[in-house]
Amino acid sequence: KSILVLNGPNLNLLGVREPEQYGSQTLADVEQLCRDAGQRLGIEVDCLQSNHEGVMIDAIHAAREGVLDGSVLGIVLNAGAYTHTSVALHDAIKGSEVPVMEVHISNVHAREPFRHHSYISPAAAGIIVGLGVDGYVLGIEALVRKAGLPTS
Ligand code: DQA
Repeated sequence: KSILVLNGPNLNLLGVREPEQYGSQTLADVEQLCRDAGQRLGIEVDCLQSNHEGVMIDAIHAAREGVLDGSVLGIVLNAGAYTHTSVALHDAIKGSEVPVMEVHISNVHAREPFRHHSYISPAAAGIIVGLGVDGYVLGIEALVRKAGLPTS
């Protein structure tokens, strides 16, 4: 069984970009953290980062079949700034029926007002905000629990 960790725009710059908001770990560090969590839980973790909305939409659609046949538990999604702009990502999640755990490294509600609204949240199975990169691991654990599988 597998989980997709999908990171959106500018998250390839993790560790370099605004470290006071996003910390010092790089995307490679975060992806390794997620794979390690998967190994501990007996789940394969696939990682994808894209700066392109359409690539992210294709990845959500591609997960649908796996969810239907039980091989994919869902997606841990940090959609970056597309969170606040993308009706298309909202529709992709709704239309694909893929369980999505929305993750934000920073507490978006403590930041600029334009970050307070999310198009992802109404379509998400859960939301993890402001817990740093641990949020990704918590999202993976949440998908495993949601599938009725043990996390310890
Ligand atoms: C983010 C928050 C977004 O507002 C921002 O555009 C990002 C990262 C986060 O992880 O805190 O790119 O999703």
